[in-house]
Amino acid sequence: MSAPLTLNIGLCGFGTVGQGVWKHLSAHRADLETRLGVRLNLARASVRNLKKKRDVKIPARALTTDPLAIARDPSIHIVCELMGGTTLAREVTLAALKRGAVVVSANKALICEHGSEIIATAQKNGGHFFFEASVAGGIPIIKALREGLVANRFPRIYGILNGTCNYIHTQMEENDAPYAAVLAEAKRLGYAEADESLDVDGWDTAHKASVLAWLAHGVWVKTDQMIVEGISRITPADFKTAATLGFGIKLLAVITRDFAKNELCVRVHPTLLPEGNVVANVSGVFNAISVTGDVVGTTFYSGRGAGQDATASAVISDIADAASLLRHGKGGHLLGEITSAPRVTCRLAPPQNIRSRYYLRLTVKDQPGVLARVASVMAKQKVSIASVIQGPADQPGAASLVLTTHESNERAIGATLKQLKALAAVLDEPVLLRIGDFER
Ligand code: NAP
Ligand code: HSE
Repeated sequence: MSAPLTLNIGLCGFGTVGQGVWKHLSAHRADLETRLGVRLNLARASVRNLKKKRDVKIPARALTTDPLAIARDPSIHIVCELMGGTTLAREVTLAALKRGAVVVSANKALICEHGSEIIATAQKNGGHFFFEASVAGGIPIIKALREGLVANRFPRIYGILNGTCNYIHTQMEENDAPYAAVLAEAKRLGYAEADESLDVDGWDTAHKASVLAWLAHGVWVKTDQMIVEGISRITPADFKTAATLGFGIKLLAVITRDFAKNELCVRVHPTLLPEGNVVANVSGVFNAISVTGDVVGTTFYSGRGAGQDATASAVISDIADAASLLRHGKGGHLLGEITSAPRVTCRLAPPQNIRSRYYLRLTVKDQPGVLARVASVMAKQKVSIASVIQGPADQPGAASLVLTTHESNERAIGATLKQLKALAAVLDEPVLLRIGDFER
């Protein structure tokens, strides 16, 4: 019997995720090697700072500060890009693909920005690109869409795709914890991006939504073609008011396709979900995704969406796929192999036509006639009020006014907001949240 094939693995990036991959692959190597029929050799890793103390032990000779040297090294069969960013990460990814290597990536920002180029480069040069860890941490949602649900078209996919934001929301909702302190804790736990504004301003969720939309619909939707709103203006008081109304608040990605009109819509925003909604009940660092297929109906996925271990699990699953591909060749591989061949195209739905119910919080002067002025602005835009709750505000002489609306659209609510902001009685930037009626 011939000796098993040895596959050399290079990790470009040895931070939270890179160290997790090294740690867990080392621990599970014997079992994986038996199952895959190859030897897995953790050969090299790159970092920016060689002097930084690492939690995971690595031989000094394996470390370099040059990720491109790993990408170009012909002895490395599987290059894992675990650095983040979109400049050097792109160079590393393209360099490895150009020599026909397999690249495993956790980098959703890179895929959103350069996915089309990456897939085309892989195809042109016989390279392969795997990216299970790029969306929803340890949940195998990429595999689910690429393989398990391939029979389906997808009228609706929605869910929580950012662990940091869900962790922050949960701590604010359950423990009244202050936003800044919880964000600092999410960073310490390894959930947040190096640039945390990617998480809290919604961009990370938008990058992931873009990846899912591409898998499900074959269209690259850029973040400037989406509504993208973050969580930084939501307060513990919003959670309390939402709960009074029977809702939880989650930062959601929502991807809907109207097949009759051939329109696709991708958006990211904090959303009020009815308490009974299954996604509304997923808390902490967990992510949750509801996928509705025209053949299967609705399926639901939940698991840890960020952090070292969950993400390493997804990266190692790609390494296993890569090993299977390299051992058996393309014919032995699975459906999941992606091509850049154009699929039936659809257009993007005009954002102003998106329909929703809304939650609107205003800080207003606590004076007679103010509610009537607010109601009059809304009436002018034909936005119908469903409920009003008035409570105290932080500022003296002010009140907090929370209104919910019947179904309206983005054009009308946008015009309403503009006019409300112009009222002298409105003291602060209004907070607008959408109400998610997904189970109707
Ligand atoms: P991280 O802890 O900041 O690690 C980044 C690693 O890359 C570090 O080893 C860093 O070196 C190295 N690096 C960064 N910029 C570099 C440069 N210009 N040149 C050379 N080396 C560089 O980040 P992470 O949390 O592991 O995330 C890595 C990737 O995984 C990102 O794309 C992220 O979006 C994605 N991801 C993260 C998670 C998560 O939960 N953390 C989950 C899913 C996906 P030093 O260590 O010397 O600074
Ligand atoms: N910062 C990301 C999150 C990491 O919190 O979800 C996982 O992609």
